[in-house]
Amino acid sequence: MPARILDGKALAQTMQAEIAAAVAAQIQRGGPKPGLAAVRVGDNPASEVYVRNKIAACAKAGFASFQHHLPASTSQAELLDLIAKLNDDQAVHGILVQLPLPKQINESTIINCVNFTKDVDGFHPLSLGRLAAGEPGFVPCTPLGVQQLLIRNGIETTGAHAVIIGRSTIVGKPLALLLMRKGPGGDATVTVAHSRSHDLSAIARSADILIAAIGQARFVTAGMIKPGATVIDVGINRVPDSVPPVGDVDFAAAVNVAGAITPVPGGVGPMTITMLLHNTLIASQMRA
Ligand code: GUN
Repeated sequence: MPARILDGKALAQTMQAEIAAAVAAQIQRGGPKPGLAAVRVGDNPASEVYVRNKIAACAKAGFASFQHHLPASTSQAELLDLIAKLNDDQAVHGILVQLPLPKQINESTIINCVNFTKDVDGFHPLSLGRLAAGEPGFVPCTPLGVQQLLIRNGIETTGAHAVIIGRSTIVGKPLALLLMRKGPGGDATVTVAHSRSHDLSAIARSADILIAAIGQARFVTAGMIKPGATVIDVGINRVPDSVPPVGDVDFAAAVNVAGAITPVPGGVGPMTITMLLHNTLIASQMRA
């Protein structure tokens, strides 16, 4: 029997409607309209699509959005100047600096300068440190979206062996911290594997929940999946033989082995945007 499809697009619609209702109620009570500033530097085509989708979701949920598109030649000082203004702007509750940035700009320097109370991407070292310490703070959107996909689809994480392939600061590392945290969507036994791991196939096959976040098209094959396991595909890869982007999982083969699986597109991607709205709503409430 083919795997159950974990429909991230449908769940994102449901959750974005919940967020829109919360925003409307907040404004009705005289509270702030959540505001997200999105900063894009240069003309990376994928970044353009991502930011456009984020802004569209903001508008639909009743948020204010402030778009800043700077030329590829922007200096680090110029970008820092903009961030400082956004840090001081009372109408801006969340600041998103779309990555990657042009090579003359140091990404860590920029991320460090975003006021961490507006760090709705959860990339600031203080946010990541708080997550590691088990303290409240912003959690990066993709890991949070993966966790919500598991919770809302009734996939039990408690005591489960979750294997994450990929150790990035944006996905792999924070997701490991989330899944091992105590409470709903946590309490998993977590293994983080990566491109240098010995016998990756055997590690992957031991997973009850397998999360692919390695950035290589169709890297996870059917033989790497335990029959009945839940497979979460974080990858979005552009390849010559497919117009839509493909995931890190060979979906056509994996769907016959897994118990549940996310598609690409329509799996994790829409959940990432939803969690950005969630974090921005929380940011607006913190200030209020
Ligand atoms: N580039 C790729 N993914 C992301 C993301 O989630 N946030 C930001 N800011 N940049 C990205």
